[in-house]
Amino acid sequence: MGDDAGNGRPESALDPAFFELIADHVAHPIFVKDRSFCFVFINEAFTKMLGFPRDQLLGKSDYDFFPKSEADFFRAKDVEMFASGRKVIIDEEPITDADGGHHVLATTKVPLVDATGTITHLVGIIHDITRLKAAEEVLRRSNAELEERVRERTRALTAAQEGLVRKERLAVLGSLAGGVAHQIRNPLASIKTAAHVLRDLTRGSEEARIAETVAIIQEEVLRANRIVTDLIDYARVREPEKRRIKAAFLIEQALGAHATSPEVTVDRDLGELLDVLVDPEQVQGALGNIVRNAVEAACANGACTLRVSSRRQGDMLVIRVSDSGPGVAPGIRAHLFEPLFTTKTTGLGLGLVTARALIESQGGRVELATTSEIGGATFEVFLPLA
Ligand SMILES: Nc1ncnc2c1ncn2[C@@H]1O[C@H](COP(=O)(O)OP(=O)(O)OP(=O)(O)O)[C@@H](O)[C@H]1O
Ligand SMILES: [Mg+2]
Repeated sequence: MGDDAGNGRPESALDPAFFELIADHVAHPIFVKDRSFCFVFINEAFTKMLGFPRDQLLGKSDYDFFPKSEADFFRAKDVEMFASGRKVIIDEEPITDADGGHHVLATTKVPLVDATGTITHLVGIIHDITRLKAAEEVLRRSNAELEERVRERTRALTAAQEGLVRKERLAVLGSLAGGVAHQIRNPLASIKTAAHVLRDLTRGSEEARIAETVAIIQEEVLRANRIVTDLIDYARVREPEKRRIKAAFLIEQALGAHATSPEVTVDRDLGELLDVLVDPEQVQGALGNIVRNAVEAACANGACTLRVSSRRQGDMLVIRVSDSGPGVAPGIRAHLFEPLFTTKTTGLGLGLVTARALIESQGGRVELATTSEIGGATFEVFLPLA
């Protein structure tokens, strides 16, 4: 290879055949357009990428092959290059091939200048970044998915941690309450016996006030006993002894124990009679606390209605206990399940927290529903179906 006029450029590099040979063996698509924006050269890679035969493209412009919006964009960039006389770099442009397939290109357009310094042609060198873009998109999506999973895990961890803290606090409070309750149970039993004896001794007595006073003692002993039972229930950390049982049976037991007074109307909608896999005694206790709350809320001023429904939801049974009471004020909703939270003068504030602990150890949950069914509060108990 010799030099031409000593400019250091090999003569053969200017030979069109030599240029075509190189251009056809380069992996990147290359094209040359004249000043009327028509293709005067395209390499092998270009025809392969777009699927248009070389002789169809030559002498034609972008408008003969590509959708108008794409051709408009290519033309604008061509005009920009001819006008500026400088290289134009397009980082990303879409193009539609002969089969309607979509490609994303990164294209560099450079001016070809003749000996007089006039720009005669535009040379385009293309990098088909379609696969790169697709890979980027996959990466972006899996990144987003990963971030979502991390967020989900963080949420679950936070919830688990809060649950642990709550359980620990409850356990301490529970054992304290349990200890105190046991201590109180003995004197209570003695008072109960003494009141009984006293009633027998004063039977037939003229003194009505004595009988009345004894009745009060007995009533109050009963109430104190209930509180002690609540405390012991709350404190007792017993593993559930699960067995298959009809949910309707547990519901009826709870209603029978707490909602039998004549003022209470119970409206039942128990749907299918489904079996749950739970510790019956623990669930009865929990449902009992919720029913008692409903009765206490709804029947404060005489006649009242309770509505109890049950429905399958996935692999759970949802029992809804609704009442016709005043509902739960928004300000106290967040505190309902805290131990010792009560708005009642005679309440202990252990009913709901105990119910929740009992239901959670069955693998279920207890929630205050966001909507009310018959005006008052609606509590939802989720239990695992058998
Ligand atoms: N059905 C309901 N309607 C309105 N408020 C309710 C209802 N159930 C519970 N609450 C509110 O939640 C509070 C806590 O209930 P929880 O059963 O834990 O304790 P309590 O009923 O006050 O006392 P106890 O220990 O005797 O059950 C109640 O004091 C009451 O303010
Ligand atoms: Mg209660």
